Amino acid sequence: MIKRSQFIKNTVLGLSGALLLAACNGGDQPAAAPEADGAASSAAGDTWTVGTEPAFPPFESQGDGGELVGFDIDLMEAIGERAGATVEFQSLPFDGLIPSLQTGAIDAAISGMTITEEREQTVDFSRPYFRAGLAIAVAEDDEAIKTLSDLENKAIAVQIGTTGANQAADIPGAEVSTFDSAPLALQELSNGNVDAVINDAPVTLDAINSGNIPGVKVVGELLTEEYYGIALPSDSPNIEAINTALDELIEDGTYAEIYEKWFGTEPEGELPESAL
Ligand code: ARG
Repeated sequence: MIKRSQFIKNTVLGLSGALLLAACNGGDQPAAAPEADGAASSAAGDTWTVGTEPAFPPFESQGDGGELVGFDIDLMEAIGERAGATVEFQSLPFDGLIPSLQTGAIDAAISGMTITEEREQTVDFSRPYFRAGLAIAVAEDDEAIKTLSDLENKAIAVQIGTTGANQAADIPGAEVSTFDSAPLALQELSNGNVDAVINDAPVTLDAINSGNIPGVKVVGELLTEEYYGIALPSDSPNIEAINTALDELIEDGTYAEIYEKWFGTEPEGELPESAL
């Protein structure tokens, strides 16, 4: 349990940190943090370039000043801190993340990315760090679409390269339109141009709650259970440092604190140690 007072304290500390950073912006770059002496990790002193597609709130999005914010962002920062590495984010299209890992252009990707067997062929994943699943979204006054089979021969919008896009591709007769981001796909539904969107439930629910996509609701049960992992190049030297840091953050309550910050509740149940 996180005490409210502690939560407020952390938020305030986070804020003053942001102000400090803002104050530094006008002048010289702040000096690099000193290497944690004797940190029990091979990552100490490293800089990790971490790719993300930042139009997936509450996991990753851009704040008012263009800075990256979200659950994944906070978690990755905490992992870097724990491992003694500096995290530098790089915004990329979602379907560009795996190719960028393969060429070594980035060291890791955190982007609400589902651990799948298909992706495991080309990249490695950290231990699971979030339980999610796909949901169908439809117009609020739609009473016909309730399950996957109701989507046959319907017009469906999805984000390119996602597990939602894969699901839609398997539906007989469906006319699938792909978008560069989940918000664009949801906007298409809100505008009445498609019958449904298949997307990660927490992101669709967040978009509905934020009021950004009026007239949209989620139907039925989740279509899948999926686990997010941090993706790494197959031969990454950092996988152990990342998994150890994740284990520690889950164990010591830091994970729960970040979870509560972005979802307003405590994490439900335990995460499995592996997803597949
Ligand atoms: N979980 C889904 C997948 O792995 C969607 C992830 C989309 N993430 C993003 N940042 N746009 O395919």
